[in-house]
Amino acid sequence: MKAAVYYENGPPEVLKYEDVPDPQCHPKGILIKVEAISIEGGDTLNRFRGPLMTTPHVVGYQAAGTVVEVGAEVTSFRVGQRVATTGGWGSHAELRAVAAKTAWPIPDNLDARHAAVIPVTFGTADDCLFEFGRMKKGEVVLVQAGASGVGVAAIQLAARAGASMVLATASSDERLEKLKAYGLTHGINYKTHDVVQEVMRLTDKKGCDVIVDSVGGPTLQSSILSLAYRGRVSMVGQAGREPMTVDVGSMMGGNRSLSGVFLGAEIATDRVQQNIQRLIDDVARGDLKVVIDREFPLAEAAAAHRYIESRQAVGRVLLIP
Ligand SMILES: NC(=O)c1ccc[n+]([C@@H]2O[C@H](COP(=O)([O-])OP(=O)(O)OC[C@H]3O[C@@H](n4cnc5c(N)ncnc54)[C@H](OP(=O)(O)O)[C@@H]3O)[C@@H](O)[C@H]2O)c1
Repeated sequence: MKAAVYYENGPPEVLKYEDVPDPQCHPKGILIKVEAISIEGGDTLNRFRGPLMTTPHVVGYQAAGTVVEVGAEVTSFRVGQRVATTGGWGSHAELRAVAAKTAWPIPDNLDARHAAVIPVTFGTADDCLFEFGRMKKGEVVLVQAGASGVGVAAIQLAARAGASMVLATASSDERLEKLKAYGLTHGINYKTHDVVQEVMRLTDKKGCDVIVDSVGGPTLQSSILSLAYRGRVSMVGQAGREPMTVDVGSMMGGNRSLSGVFLGAEIATDRVQQNIQRLIDDVARGDLKVVIDREFPLAEAAAAHRYIESRQAVGRVLLIP
C-alpha cells in the first residue's frame, strides 16, 4: 500500500509518500480501506518529536473507511461496513489495522470525511468539559486554542450544554471571528491582548469555571490564573511544545483544580465507547458540526502538516488517499 511515512522526527518535510507492506489484521481487530484521514494535533506533535514505533513510521490516530477484513475473534463488524477508527499510529495510509474496540460504525447519512474527525476530537473535548471539568449549565467556559480541532469541538459542546459564556483564545482575529458560528461568545487574540486581563474584564473579575487547555507551557499558566472560585482546568495537550513549568500557588486559595486528561487511558471503557458513538450520532443528526478547513491528497501529507503548522486552519485538515 501507499503511505505517508518518516524515518526520523522533524519538520513536515520528513514525510515521504512511499510503498510499505500492508498492515496485518489482528484476531481482535479489523482492517479498513481508508477513505479519509483526520490529522490530529497529536500527529503533528508525534512527527516532530514522538517515538517511531515502526521504521519507516506511519503516524496518525484517526481514519475512517470501509472494513475489508475482520479478525477471527471479532463478531461486532462485517466486511463492507463503514467505520471511524482510532489507534496509536498508522492512519496516514491507504489501509489501516485497528483493534475492534477502537472502531465505531458510521450511520448511513454521515460522510466518512466527517466521521474520521469525531472519536478523538469530540471525545476529548467532551471528557475535558464534562467528565473531568464537571461543567454545568450557566458556567463560564474558556477554550484555549479555540480554532484547533479539539477547540472547535469544545466550543460547540460547551455552548450546547448551556454555558453562560464561551470564551476562546487564538493567534488571529480572523480565526476567532469564524468561531462565532459555533457558539463563541468572546474571542481573545493572545497576540494582541493579555489573556488573564481579558478574562477578568469579560467576567467581572470572577474568572472562568471550566478551562480546556490543549496548549500547555505559558498558556497553562494563563489558564490557572483565569480560574474562578472552584474553577477547573482540564490540561489535555502540549500543542505549544514548551516546557510545562507552572506556578500553582493561586489554586489553593480559591479551591481551584487542575486535571490532566488523556482520552487514550479511557478509550476502552464502556463509558467512552458509548460516548463516542453518541457523538457520532449527534453529528449525523446535525446537532454538532465537524469543521473541515481543507483537504489534501495523502501524497501531499507534508504540505498538509505544513499548512496546519502555519496556524491558519480552523478545525480539521484531512488527507484523502
Ligand atoms: N490528551 C488527550 O487525550 C488529547 C486528545 C486530543 C488532542 N490532544 C492534544 O491537544 C493538542 C491540540 O490538539 P488538536 O488536535 O486540537 O490540535 P490542532 O487542531 O492541530 O491545533 C493546535 C492549535 O494549537 C495552537 N498552538 C499554540 N502553539 C502552537 C505551536 N507552537 N504549534 C502549533 N500550534 C500551536 C494553534 O492555535 P493558535 O495559532 O490560535 O495558537 C493551533 O490551532 C495537541 O497537543 C494534542 O496532542 C490530547
